[in-house]
Amino acid sequence: MKRLNKVLKEDGVETDLIMLIRTILATTKEIAFRVSQGELAGVLGSTLNENIQGEVQKKLDVIANQLLKDTLIDDDLVKTVASEEEDNAVGAHPEGKYIVAFDPLDGSSNIDVNGQIGTIFTIYPAKVDVPYDSDEQFNQPGTNQVCAGYVLYGPSSLLVMSTGGPTRCYTHDLTHGGFLLTKPELLVPSKSREFSVNMANYRYWDESTQVYFDKLLYTSEEFDKSSIRYNAAMVGDVHRILCRGGVFMYPQDTRAGNENGKIRLLYEANPLAMLTENAGGIATSKGRRILDIQPDDLHQRVPVILGSSEPVNYFDSIVY
Ligand code: F6P
Ligand code: MN
Repeated sequence: MKRLNKVLKEDGVETDLIMLIRTILATTKEIAFRVSQGELAGVLGSTLNENIQGEVQKKLDVIANQLLKDTLIDDDLVKTVASEEEDNAVGAHPEGKYIVAFDPLDGSSNIDVNGQIGTIFTIYPAKVDVPYDSDEQFNQPGTNQVCAGYVLYGPSSLLVMSTGGPTRCYTHDLTHGGFLLTKPELLVPSKSREFSVNMANYRYWDESTQVYFDKLLYTSEEFDKSSIRYNAAMVGDVHRILCRGGVFMYPQDTRAGNENGKIRLLYEANPLAMLTENAGGIATSKGRRILDIQPDDLHQRVPVILGSSEPVNYFDSIVY
């Protein structure tokens, strides 16, 4: 099995980007260790703080955020850092070549129940003419991403990443400490009957989304024998979809604050959309390609549907 470094070199990834990826991954190994220690390390449970989105921060969220922020700020290659857990962009090095955004621990409601959680990250080229500590650095569409990935802390720790080419999967080998290529190219089948959606939100959806689900669940022959698989961790649901197909969705709803759903564009939707597209799937928001959205806010939310092309297109054709 090939080591990550060799794969990245063979893929023609530039040396600086390889070094930055390695810096991020070194930190995720430390996060993986803390996650594996669970209650033994006293890191479960909540802090008394809320993040900018009003979510109570879990201790592990805060630790993972601090670890990633500190290492990235220390790296001369990095101009600016953004995180789900930071209100604003954080300046690192005015001459840095890249900017990095991350969700330190996606699926944090799973932390206390030993469920799937993961770190999502994305790398863009830095804007030369924008100050290093400005949110403006991240006003770039997802098509500008030079690398997107996540580390899933499950029974094994897995890295799923694309540097523009195929979406590849690596397994963290605890015996030598590195990531080994275990699935060289993930391919999302175009058809699937598996759905990841929080059905309990049905009453809050708009009428067309409800109509879609009424058809799907009660009348559609095409989707007879559909199954729902929902993790409450987007990173885990998307991982299943990248491995065997299916659809993840988080539509907009009528609850206060959820006018654009719950998923954040910068560090959730965009990186996972890039991984999905580079594995042959599609990712849309209100019928538009997610990667083409021009962002206007660091923590902007977008309705999301992504995965196998046929059911995603079917959803968009009915709802939009
Ligand atoms: O980060 C947002 C998130 O935790 C996703 O990982 C997950 O898919 C979603 O929220 C779960 O939200 P809900 O509990 O509303 O279904
Ligand atoms: Mn998240």
